[in-house]
Amino acid sequence: TAACARNENTEAAIGPDSPQVRTFAEAESRRFPGGRPVAYELTAAQSDVDLAGTRTAAWLYNTQLPGPVVRANVGDRVQVRCRNQLPDPTTVHWHGLAIRNDMDGVPDVTQAPIPAGDEFVYDFIPPDPGTYWYHTHGDLQRGRGLYGALIVDDPAAPANYDAEFVVVLSDWLTDRTPTQVFDELRGGRMASMPDMTSAALGGDAGDVRYPVYLVNGRTPADPVVFTARAGQRARIRLINAGDDTAFRVALGGHRLTVTDTDGFPVEPVDTDSVLIGMGERYDAVVTLQDGVFPLVAVAEGKGAQGFAVVRTGGGAAPAPTVMPAELTAPPLTVADLQATEAARLPVLDPAVTLEASLGGDMNAYSWTVNGQAYPDHTPLTVHSDQRVRLVYTNKTMMWHPMHLHGHTFAVARMDGSGPRKDTVIVLPGQTVAADIDTTNPGQWITHCHNDYHLAAGMATIFSYV
Ligand code: C2O
Ligand code: CU
Repeated sequence: TAACARNENTEAAIGPDSPQVRTFAEAESRRFPGGRPVAYELTAAQSDVDLAGTRTAAWLYNTQLPGPVVRANVGDRVQVRCRNQLPDPTTVHWHGLAIRNDMDGVPDVTQAPIPAGDEFVYDFIPPDPGTYWYHTHGDLQRGRGLYGALIVDDPAAPANYDAEFVVVLSDWLTDRTPTQVFDELRGGRMASMPDMTSAALGGDAGDVRYPVYLVNGRTPADPVVFTARAGQRARIRLINAGDDTAFRVALGGHRLTVTDTDGFPVEPVDTDSVLIGMGERYDAVVTLQDGVFPLVAVAEGKGAQGFAVVRTGGGAAPAPTVMPAELTAPPLTVADLQATEAARLPVLDPAVTLEASLGGDMNAYSWTVNGQAYPDHTPLTVHSDQRVRLVYTNKTMMWHPMHLHGHTFAVARMDGSGPRKDTVIVLPGQTVAADIDTTNPGQWITHCHNDYHLAAGMATIFSYV
């Protein structure tokens, strides 16, 4: 396991308990005077979940799938008490938030895992508004159900929408645990991979066909129904909490105006559908038509879909197998997006360029960064107050949605127009460079958000020294 991750760093590494992290936290409190205290409790425990009449074993927060929405304003003092009633140690990670390092929730990197029967209070200030999420960072725990939406509102920017649909997409195992699937992958029992080729972008987007794909914890047979009135503007917050599944999402009868990705604004762009990798978020605004409409999330390359209903008027619900015409055109991807002026990083030559070469050995089911399978790793070292370019190069045949903790990078482009992201799909054979301003000292994991790939080693540490 990851027990030795910290020890491999040099003595000079700025760890979660370093004075620099306290200084960062103090600066955040000064930056946001008068933040309200906001308290949540998340009890992680074994539980059953009812999927269209079938009980299936799960690990849940507060017995809900997904867990409760955690919501606060920018600058609030958020305290979340996590009670661990699982049989195993766990942590909670606040995906996408640039918070103090010691609250980042990565076992053996930013904290000791919370032992079974114990608890831990996460205490942080969300610095940026937007759509985020939280999830366990324990080994292959996420796919059992330990995830939920995390919404940060900006009290200074009034909502320009009438209705809000928080849409958490996931893949769900009914007959096995993620650990059992991982053992099958490791044992080569899935080695004759069924065709998982993405119709949208090519390459294999996942390793595993799931029995069912969920929208807000509901199966297509018993879908969640979002209600609003015709003519209202709805903000749809899409979150891909899946372990191994990228989704292509459309709302039948509507065009989506994409306004944000990974919590940060983009120049609004209209599209029929969006492609969302594991860990990513897309926010879209739609003006709702009158009727009943399918919200479809196609599991790329897997021949099945998640399904929900948007209802503004009378009429029968569409069939859960419906394929809206909006899904025939190519989906919007990160290449179609530009950061708004205010969200851009200034154009600067990077002081440091770091390579993260993504590799794998399919026979061993080992996935690597720079030839090492985590927890083996050579840290990518940086100093504070630098512009760093982190170059992810995918030398494998599969997609890897690469995520960096503690920062929202800019997808590198010559003109500085690249959207701000914390998770970005790197397609087979491709390179994506992430420009980062090193303003948040600590030890930060960067990893593939395919949970099997993370478990098989596709991670390293972005290390302030
Ligand atoms: Cu959303 Cu390290 O994860
Ligand atoms: Cu991967």
